[in-house]
Amino acid sequence: MSDLTTTWLGLKLKSPLVASSSPLCDSVEGIVRLEDHGVAAVVLPSLFEEQLELESAALDADLFRGSESFAEALTYFPEAPPHGLGPDRYLELIRRAKERVNIPVIASLNGISEGGWVRYARLMEEAGADAIELNLYAIPTDPARTGAAVEQGDLELVAAIRRTLRVPMAVKLSPFFSAPANMGRRLGEAGADGLVLFNRFYQPDFNIEDQEVVASLSLSRPEELLLRLHWTAILFGRVGADIGITGGVHSARDVVKCIMAGAQVAFMASALLKNGVGHADRVLADLDRWLDAHEYASVAQMRGGMSYKAVPDASAYERGNYMKVLGSYTLRTGALDD
Ligand SMILES: Cc1cc2nc3c(=O)[nH]c(=O)nc-3n(C[C@H](O)[C@H](O)[C@H](O)COP(=O)(O)O)c2cc1C
Repeated sequence: MSDLTTTWLGLKLKSPLVASSSPLCDSVEGIVRLEDHGVAAVVLPSLFEEQLELESAALDADLFRGSESFAEALTYFPEAPPHGLGPDRYLELIRRAKERVNIPVIASLNGISEGGWVRYARLMEEAGADAIELNLYAIPTDPARTGAAVEQGDLELVAAIRRTLRVPMAVKLSPFFSAPANMGRRLGEAGADGLVLFNRFYQPDFNIEDQEVVASLSLSRPEELLLRLHWTAILFGRVGADIGITGGVHSARDVVKCIMAGAQVAFMASALLKNGVGHADRVLADLDRWLDAHEYASVAQMRGGMSYKAVPDASAYERGNYMKVLGSYTLRTGALDD
């Protein structure tokens, strides 16, 4: 047996395999099942800024009952969270999960702007959450809003939540920054104890017959891991925060790659949804076998071995490699035929 233990945001974990936010973690039974199958920590589905704003709008409505504007304001909010967990049920889920499992329970907040809802981070902590993950999921559609303004907003939000918390905090972010390395560093400075690379954006498709925009959610494919590995390798040891990878982790080999790039943990959602939670047992057994076969005594020994700082030729992560990669493609016989 190799030593699979790791840490995430200062929490001790029995392995690097963590269940990412998904419907698998939206009930106590689901969380218990994940623990039974060896998962080292769970992240609950996100509680959304819109839900929390709605809650405080409802409180205001009690004060201004009958006002037209409240009824109108309500129409801007989504009807219900996708997982059906309102704020009270969410806090109840944290409390009940903490009574039943020994693994860390990480609560997730999804928001993009500072506001009254930020105090929920503290309520989550009081309910027993071991850490908070802030999911910065935003689509900056306003052409007048600059990249600098978007970044400043994110940093202020992270700092505001950090101020309300005693427990550690991770930030799940997007890859779409002009300078992701600099943003990673500044998020660390703003108080993020960990960076989760990267959010997966759900891209609407078109129904060209009916000319409708179709919201679609597909599970991830392992190829999506490459973008995460690239940036983890670049950031490892160069930002003041742990790094965790989400997106495309499907097998033990993927977990090995995450650790070699420099991650503390590898999050999994799609592979568990697709194969069932028993998949976690197989991934952990394969991981253990892989470490043994390659004579690694521990996960820690392997960490960062393929990072930008560690590889002899860091150009593999830089622009120089681009020319080499393009030149390495061999035309398929017949590709020029009609
Ligand atoms: C059905 C479903 C629901 C999800 N809900 C959330 C959520 O509430 N909050 C969040 O931060 N991520 C959510 N995610 C994203 C996952 O946590 C994860 O980051 C993403 O699916 C990439 O990891 P994977 O390749 O292991 O699936 C959800 C994913 C799926 C498939």
